[in-house]
Amino acid sequence: MNRILVIGGTGNVGRHVVDQLAATGTRFRAMVRNPDAAGLPPQVEVMRGDLSLPETLDRCLEDIDTVFLVWVAPPAAVADALERIVTHARRIVFLSAPLKTPHPFFQQPNPARTLAEKLERVIEASGLGWTFLRPGMLAANSRLWWASQIRAGDVVRWPYLSVPTSPIDERDIAAVAVRALCDEGHVGAEYVLTGPESLSQLEQIDIIGRVLGRVLRIEEMSPDEARCELLPIMDLRVVNMLLDAWAAGAGLPALVTSTVGDLTERPARTFREWANDHASEFRS
Ligand SMILES: NC(=O)c1ccc[n+]([C@@H]2O[C@H](COP(=O)([O-])OP(=O)(O)OC[C@H]3O[C@@H](n4cnc5c(N)ncnc54)[C@H](OP(=O)(O)O)[C@@H]3O)[C@@H](O)[C@H]2O)c1
Repeated sequence: MNRILVIGGTGNVGRHVVDQLAATGTRFRAMVRNPDAAGLPPQVEVMRGDLSLPETLDRCLEDIDTVFLVWVAPPAAVADALERIVTHARRIVFLSAPLKTPHPFFQQPNPARTLAEKLERVIEASGLGWTFLRPGMLAANSRLWWASQIRAGDVVRWPYLSVPTSPIDERDIAAVAVRALCDEGHVGAEYVLTGPESLSQLEQIDIIGRVLGRVLRIEEMSPDEARCELLPIMDLRVVNMLLDAWAAGAGLPALVTSTVGDLTERPARTFREWANDHASEFRS
């Protein structure tokens, strides 16, 4: 039997991987740092573990064949954690990013990219059968970026409003992850995953406003203003990473792939569907 361990199962993507695996009746385990706060479905086997404390991984990895890995732990922990995973498992599905996609939006140097490249190199050299998921912008970013402004009033200030992205619903990434975890035939595959349409950031904020039945005043902020104004919600390195990506994507349509529809039973969800399903998080 293919026994699965989900690492990162309380996050934006991993929570849907857990829900979708649970819905199919698959036997799996979720490794979390704090089981009491995990809030995962009661039928899920939850075990305490931390990627930066490699000795905690062995128990979680007992009898495991396949690992779903979301990595947001420090880079220094990569070698030891992967060594433990390789000792126990034979396959890994890693949530990465579109590192090899030539679109300039995805080609800017930044620390997150360096870390993902390092993880991929270690995984490729490990002997594990690997699958890399390469989503573009997560729709969930909009909750972090815009929800507090929209809850507080009608003005949304944001940089690079005209730059398009193709936000992907986390449920669609999870659906592809579940196929890669449960089915044969995905070893060595690299799936570039996007939402179904290229939408400017202005259009995305406008869609959220329409879903809420609100008229939002959307104001452009300069990159320098963004470096100050966005610090309450994001680290400066993350702000700079985003500003570089948006600057590189200016004037180009966002990359749109058909991979979600090709690999799952349904087409990729639209940003409007995502906004409808998350509307309560934007209401005060
Ligand atoms: N945001 C985007 O647009 C985007 C686009 C492409 C790729 N990505 C990639 O997607 C990944 C993030 O995915 P996400 O948004 O689903 O993550 P997330 O919501 O930030 O969740 C991170 C998960 O990792 C767990 N975690 C954190 N530190 C850990 C540790 N030391 N040991 C074990 N688990 C730990 C957290 O669990 P607990 O806190 O509950 O322990 C949580 O479940 C990143 O690698 C990012 O580069 C993001």
